[in-house]
Amino acid sequence: MSLPSATTGPATAGPATAGPDAAGHAAGDDPAGRGGDVHAAWLPPEAFAPLGSRRVLVRGDGVLVDTVFDEVERACARHGGRADRTAGDRAVDLVLALRDAGPLPAAATALARAAGADGPLGGEGFALARAEGVTVVLADAPAGLLYGLFHLVRLGAAAFEGDHPVRRHAPAMALRMLDHWDNVDVHPVMGQVERGYAGGSIFWRAGAARRDLDRVRAYGRLLAACGVNAISVNNVNVHATEARLLTDRLGDVAELADALRPYGVRVHLSVTFAAPVVLGGLPTADPVDPAVRAWWAAATRRVYARIPDFGGYVVKADSEGQPGPFTYGRDHADGANLLAEALAPFGGVVHWRAFVYNHRQDWRDRSTDRARAAYDHFAPLDGRFRDNVVVQAKFGPIDFQPREPVSPVLAAMPATRLAVEFQVTQEYTGQQQHVCYLAPCWSEALTFAPWGPGGPTVADVAAGSGPGPAAGGGLAAVANVGDDPFWTGHPLAQANLYAYGRLAWDPGLDPVAVLDEWIDLTFPASTVGDPALVRETLHAVMDDSWRTYERYTAPLGVGFMVSPARHHYGPDVDGYEYSRWGTYHFADRDGVGVDRTRATGTGFTGQYPPPWSQVYESLSDCPDELLLFFHHVPYGHVLRSGSTVIQHIYDTHFAGVQQVAGMRQRWRRLAGVIDPAVHARVAERLEEQLRCAIEWRDQVNTYFFRKSGVPDVRGRTIH
Ligand code: GCU
Repeated sequence: MSLPSATTGPATAGPATAGPDAAGHAAGDDPAGRGGDVHAAWLPPEAFAPLGSRRVLVRGDGVLVDTVFDEVERACARHGGRADRTAGDRAVDLVLALRDAGPLPAAATALARAAGADGPLGGEGFALARAEGVTVVLADAPAGLLYGLFHLVRLGAAAFEGDHPVRRHAPAMALRMLDHWDNVDVHPVMGQVERGYAGGSIFWRAGAARRDLDRVRAYGRLLAACGVNAISVNNVNVHATEARLLTDRLGDVAELADALRPYGVRVHLSVTFAAPVVLGGLPTADPVDPAVRAWWAAATRRVYARIPDFGGYVVKADSEGQPGPFTYGRDHADGANLLAEALAPFGGVVHWRAFVYNHRQDWRDRSTDRARAAYDHFAPLDGRFRDNVVVQAKFGPIDFQPREPVSPVLAAMPATRLAVEFQVTQEYTGQQQHVCYLAPCWSEALTFAPWGPGGPTVADVAAGSGPGPAAGGGLAAVANVGDDPFWTGHPLAQANLYAYGRLAWDPGLDPVAVLDEWIDLTFPASTVGDPALVRETLHAVMDDSWRTYERYTAPLGVGFMVSPARHHYGPDVDGYEYSRWGTYHFADRDGVGVDRTRATGTGFTGQYPPPWSQVYESLSDCPDELLLFFHHVPYGHVLRSGSTVIQHIYDTHFAGVQQVAGMRQRWRRLAGVIDPAVHARVAERLEEQLRCAIEWRDQVNTYFFRKSGVPDVRGRTIH
């Protein structure tokens, strides 16, 4: 298996992390927010105060109901409430119950009847209501009760005030998954976590599984509290040691599954398509070979014997050097169906990634367009995938750039279960050195209507309510945590993980409202000096931070001006221009951008249904922020905004740096107001963000000034 890396730089070095004590929290053996050397993220003990000061009854059986009771009991012990599991005559303020759990206290019975009146609540749904001083959370299944509990935590005191009419909640997507690109061995180029910016892996360390799973349990708890219900535990680039997680190292995976099960998080595994050869000793991995099919069936049977609720496989095949069905003259439906067949008897799914393109392109070859690749490979296969195959497509056609159009694959496979893939880890968005709140980017993608305004959205497709008959594949995203005391290196990057889970649960949520939830949970009013200032500052720093990042980096959707030598961190305008990776901007003295039109370019615009096929094709209708993704234009081209392309480049780059300077200024006002360790870590990273933004501004502006010879109309310094 060859190296997947687009780079040749040194091993991924996460940003310097402060020692455990820097988090300002205590007790390493108790990281679940009860004081620990790990930051409590969105589950600090104070967030449980409203619930923990009540008289609570938990009714029902099962592992997840036990988890709910443990949470309630711990909160009550801390905050003076009372937790019971059996209904008696005692008065209650809160009832959390499974519907079939038997009689409830009188005060809760009528509410329970009303809450259930509209039919089943589903495997993960719940209903909440409050009347006559009693709050009731009702679920049909234990997972629903767990999500109901964390919903109560989010509501805080409001859950216990006034009356609440019955409200039913259920996730939009059944699969809400995080993909960990964690390696078991430290990879010589990519390190312990590929594209990891938060220290080491919480699962693996230097070739072995970590023995202390407290951190994994705390992680499962955080995931449940934001709605994530599945993770894959190893990198999609499956190297030699990691391949064996499927066979002789399966015990390590089983231990992770045991640790995460109480939080309703199922474990999946990235596997290599070559497993029958590299693990099984067969001469071939050809998907139609009976011995290969038998090998996968037997291996999968052994997995389920050990992990009965195992989620399934994630596969990166024929992509960036990974093995796949092309070797045997088969296509991706043949490949995916092979694994799906093995998983089907156990209810498992295969997430088959659509990230397939020619990564050995000759830059001189203008006929090949990487943006076209996923559609060209996968759209013709629509209808051929088994029901338990999820084709997982990156949200944009290239590779998690800060700005890309939505991938046309998502509108081209109505008979296939499709998952949308995001990147929570900030590979191309500042590597958790920069503040970049990504929920607005994801929200734009999820609410995009590929068949035109008012029609079904990308979220509908992922949820299985798009125009086609296929069930939904949900969301998947590359995870951003590591063994850093703040989980994510940059403490504010925690918000991205939280928001990802929340948008997977409800893609219609407003990113600003999600940020408010995260602020309330992470910085409870009782723990900060000036709650209003904290909220105002965090919004000012974070709300627009994705667009700020976009302003000071690659302009107008052109993408990939990142440094190959520094693992995609910092600017290098021509870094990928003459490379084999298919990511070019084609800047010359006259203009810049990629002509992807049908009329004169690569024809990529034709992969979209109308109206977007016309909108993107048209120079005058194409949205400004995507102009250079679709068109090659002269520097003097006038944007819809009224500015020329060259002046837009100068203006946004100066503005972006100014905004970062403003963020740094605002953050200073929180000194002495919030946890000093959080303050210091963010302050240190804002210094780096400003330095890097200035570098971006000066390199991009200077590059285009030198290419075009067009001066800045405002006469600012360009070097
Ligand atoms: C990007 C990233 C790689 C990763 C790949 C993928 O190219 O830089 O590290 O392996 O995406 O999504 O598979």
